[in-house]
Amino acid sequence: MCMISVDVVLSINMSPRENRRQTRNQIRGPHSALTDFLAANNISAAQIRDDHQRRLRDAERQTTGEVLPSQSEDGSRESPGDSSEQSKKRRRNEATTLAKIKQSKEFARRKARRTDPKNDDDLIAREMMCERSRPVPGQLDNCEICSKRFTVTPYSKTGYNGGLLCTRCSKSMKDDAKMAQAKKQGARISRRQNQSNLLDGVAQQGALSLVEMCIKKVADNINDIEEFGDLPSQLLRRLSQILSKRRALDPRTLNLFLRPELDTIDIYDSAKLETHDFQKIFTSMPALVNVNLRFAGQIKDSVFEYMLGRELKIKRLQLDATNLVSDSYWRRLFKILGPQLEILKLSNLDFSLNDETVKVMCGCCTTLRRLKLNQCWKIGDDSLQALSSLNSLEHLSLDLTRETKNESILEVVSSIGPRLRTLSLEGFPNADDELLQVIHHSCDSLRKLRLSNNSVCTDKGFRRLFTGWSNPSLEFVDFSSMRDLDNSDLDSPEGVIGLASEGFVSLMEHSGTTIRKLNISSCRHISRDAFEHVFSGGKIYPNLRELDISFHTVMDDYLIGKILQCCPAIKKLVAFACFNVRDVRIPAGVALIGGLKAQGTIVFEGTS
Ligand SMILES: *[C@@H]1O[C@H](CO)[C@@H](O)[C@H](O)[C@H]1NC(C)=O
Ligand SMILES: *[C@@H]1O[C@H](CO)[C@@H](O)[C@H](O)[C@H]1NC(C)=O
Ligand SMILES: *[C@@H]1O[C@H](CO)[C@@H](O)[C@H](O)[C@H]1NC(C)=O
Ligand SMILES: *[C@@H]1O[C@H](CO)[C@@H](O)[C@H](O)[C@H]1NC(C)=O
Repeated sequence: MCMISVDVVLSINMSPRENRRQTRNQIRGPHSALTDFLAANNISAAQIRDDHQRRLRDAERQTTGEVLPSQSEDGSRESPGDSSEQSKKRRRNEATTLAKIKQSKEFARRKARRTDPKNDDDLIAREMMCERSRPVPGQLDNCEICSKRFTVTPYSKTGYNGGLLCTRCSKSMKDDAKMAQAKKQGARISRRQNQSNLLDGVAQQGALSLVEMCIKKVADNINDIEEFGDLPSQLLRRLSQILSKRRALDPRTLNLFLRPELDTIDIYDSAKLETHDFQKIFTSMPALVNVNLRFAGQIKDSVFEYMLGRELKIKRLQLDATNLVSDSYWRRLFKILGPQLEILKLSNLDFSLNDETVKVMCGCCTTLRRLKLNQCWKIGDDSLQALSSLNSLEHLSLDLTRETKNESILEVVSSIGPRLRTLSLEGFPNADDELLQVIHHSCDSLRKLRLSNNSVCTDKGFRRLFTGWSNPSLEFVDFSSMRDLDNSDLDSPEGVIGLASEGFVSLMEHSGTTIRKLNISSCRHISRDAFEHVFSGGKIYPNLRELDISFHTVMDDYLIGKILQCCPAIKKLVAFACFNVRDVRIPAGVALIGGLKAQGTIVFEGTS
């Protein structure tokens, strides 16, 4: 009887489509309307009939003296007065019944529901056996809760003590169960959300801000919204981010962002937009100055043509994955917009933007302050040479895929280094200590320095970079994956490869007072002593907010505690694969990401 009511509950929770899918594949003969109805609700008439007949049989057995044995104190069953032959037979029967019950789905379900480890299989099976010997549908019984006399039906529920419930009490119990389930789901979602926030580095307590809540509400109901009114642009940007993350930015929702008086468009996922949608952006926003279109695979030559024909005053241009644009149109773009561009960020271009085009770009973009070229496959040595002429540049980020000669990047840094406030270099596997020396001699206004994924630069090179460097102390440092690929090669004659103990100590001596973000993930030759020295009592790094120390095997609870002491402003501590960080106490408001415990919960959340 329990099985049926569970099915009823399940069928209520199931969408009609699921029901249909489940029944579609079965070949069926003519049915009564009732059977059809029951089948449509995932209730099997055969099942009800079988259960009913089983109960009748059980009841019959009961009245003819073949009573199921009652349970004695210690759980064993003994009915005095039985001949040993009879009791043996009964035990055999009982054993088969128990074995059958243990095979049943209902048994598995019950077992999964119980959390109490004391509930072993036998106990559950026996409980079910006893329940089956209860009054049959049609008989009268007293309700376990209200003691009223009522007629047992196949839908009567079992109360908490194993007795049956009248219709009214059955219903209220079902409602309770539903509410508990809803509550449980709510808690789980918020825990998931918690973990998701944690991965984003948000360890906030309490409710979201009112603005953030309203933004979420708007995003949830995006299909009912006809216009945004005059939302300020930072809220529009936030909405665009949320909608992009949910893959909800399409031609319809794009319209909400097209407002003629605004000078900014930020679409973080343009994958669902087509040629005429992009044209519409440029038609309906004549005042555009800042254009940011990511995943914009459908931008073609014709869109560039259209955009260039509208005499827009674009100063900031960020395009991602615009692979249908040919080199000749890139050049036209730079010739026409180049002189007014201040910020240019291009990424994920594998089809066009070759060295020749980059030369044209460098010739035309004479007022460029910020340039970012990430994963542009065609860029090589000639492009780097051209970049050396960008005298107005203050921020340079390069992430190359093609291998280049070491001299090329040296030339770039030595010629434009003095003005640079940001230098971010990835994809330079050949760069060696000479690059560090050129940075030391050329750069004296850097705020942000990233050198990543290289196994040539040495620890001594890093120490020389930071010793007596005229550059003021840095705010953002990323030396992730500057390490020797060979873990055993610590005593090579040239010294340790990568950012190791000496380099790390001199970095923190040079920049410790101002550093805000530090990424030394995978710099695995920094010793425990070096960490203890850098994060020792009395030292304070007042601005350090984000620290990534992933893949440092020397890291443990003690060192994490020291880091937390020395960095009062820390908000985000990333520690993937730090296997000795076990249960350190993390203060409120700090997000520890990737710690063993946290990882455990994330995996658990994902699979439950
Ligand atoms: C969510 O995280 C905060 C700390 O960031 C914690 O206090 C709170 O109990 C968590 N809530 C849930 C449901 O896990
Ligand atoms: C690091 O560089 C190597 C080659 O030098 C390359 O194969 C690898 O993909 C790079 N890793 C990342 C994360 O960029
Ligand atoms: C350039 O880098 C390669 C590989 O690291 C090295 O063998 C070579 O000597 C370097 N050349 C110069 C001119 O520094
Ligand atoms: C640190 O650098 C690694 C490798 O480049 C990267 O995967 C990781 O996300 C960075 N950490 C932070 C906090 O940005």
